Amino acid sequence: MSKLQNIFSCQECGAQYPKWVGRCQECGQWGSVLQECQQNNVHQFDKSENFEPMTFLSLDQCVNVDRVMTGISEFDNLCGGGIVRGSIILIGGDPGIGKSTLLLQIVGALSKISNTVYVSGEEAAEQISIRATRLGLEKSNVKLGCQTNLESILGSISKDDNFVVIDSIQTLFSSLIESVPGTVSQVRGCTHKLIEFAKKNGITIFLVGHVTKEGAIAGPKVLEHMVDTVLYFEGDRGHSYRILRAVKNRFGPCDEVAIFEMTKDGLKEVSNPSSLFLTQRNGEVAGTVAFAGIEGTRPLFVEIQSLVSKTYFPAPRRTVVGWDINRLFMILAVLESKCNISFANKDVYLSIAGGIKISEPAVDLAVAIALLSSRYSIAIDTEICAFGEIGLSGEVRCVVKPKERIREAQRLGFSKIMAPFQELEKDGAVIGFKTLMDVVEFLKKLSTKKEEI
Ligand code: TYD
Ligand code: MG
Repeated sequence: MSKLQNIFSCQECGAQYPKWVGRCQECGQWGSVLQECQQNNVHQFDKSENFEPMTFLSLDQCVNVDRVMTGISEFDNLCGGGIVRGSIILIGGDPGIGKSTLLLQIVGALSKISNTVYVSGEEAAEQISIRATRLGLEKSNVKLGCQTNLESILGSISKDDNFVVIDSIQTLFSSLIESVPGTVSQVRGCTHKLIEFAKKNGITIFLVGHVTKEGAIAGPKVLEHMVDTVLYFEGDRGHSYRILRAVKNRFGPCDEVAIFEMTKDGLKEVSNPSSLFLTQRNGEVAGTVAFAGIEGTRPLFVEIQSLVSKTYFPAPRRTVVGWDINRLFMILAVLESKCNISFANKDVYLSIAGGIKISEPAVDLAVAIALLSSRYSIAIDTEICAFGEIGLSGEVRCVVKPKERIREAQRLGFSKIMAPFQELEKDGAVIGFKTLMDVVEFLKKLSTKKEEI
């Protein structure tokens, strides 16, 4: 006979404890440890037992994915060429960034060709209809519901409803799960039931997910594993541009981005965004350089701004907006040890203009140039842009898609492109660098002050 044993496991990371603890010692999450029953002797499976046999398919039997275009081409491209029927799309982002607005626009567009349902657990029907009027969608055929009970939602959705928005997953609760709405087990349980329902009936479900302080989707990380597509809204509420990034996509390219502008009539697509984040600089200013970036498949040029100033703190400050601070520490360490340029008594502030977040290593060179430019007050020509990764030994390394970056830089009117040495032969406009030391030498020549470095 198998024996039942009580164990306590973290719903966030799966760590197990013999006793209840308030905070998981593995992942540091509070209140995620719950009691579970576990069988001590796992029952051995025997082929003579009753089981439902599986049907195996060949790989070419499942090639037909049914895609639906919303007509919002940025969003369609992000999904890999339209929304796949029966898929689950999770959209995360800070409060007020535009999740509900985008989803209302999407179902509004889809309502012309399909039956759509918008279920809100956060806002009252009046609020949503005010927004719909603002978006010019008041006449569209979207069924609107305000409900938080999962069973009542699933029971009310008919087979003819093709697209369902749930805003948000954290407000849902199932009467069959014994914990309060918003808890890990509720969020996970409700998502599981929604996925089951969607796959069985071929309904596409959009889920809105709240994000935590750290920027991850609140609730268990497994939520991201369970769904087909995870999209994150990025951007600063101080700016009007919003970037929707695909961090996971079972039906299309990953790390692709869609760019929108928040206007008074909702989110508008920005179809040619490559120079959007380059501010109009009048004259040259020290500490700023353009970075020839690529987001997904598209070039996206952004301005890297840096300020290096004398410190008044015992430990100098390093502040970064839109980039990984550890990467800044690394660049500062390389500058110090390989180029003998110390930032020990300097505060360093680095910001990626426009509220965009950059994760590609190709930005290293532009960051180093911005830092040196500010440190020595050398203004960088507005016709210069840069890309390249910096290794720990100070070498400037190749990055992905150099040709696309160079082509776009020339299209945008940059006459000099600071890049890894290997790109030199490919184009006359390229100034190639082997090491960070070469970059310092080049900047010295630009400096009019003939001092330091
Ligand atoms: P919302 O979609 O409610 O954000 P979320 O669901 O992510 O919390 O977006 C609300 C913000 O967008 C709010 O600050 C007002 C602004 N907004 C506009 O600027 N124009 C519009 O047409 C709409 C509908 C909202
Ligand atoms: Mg909302």
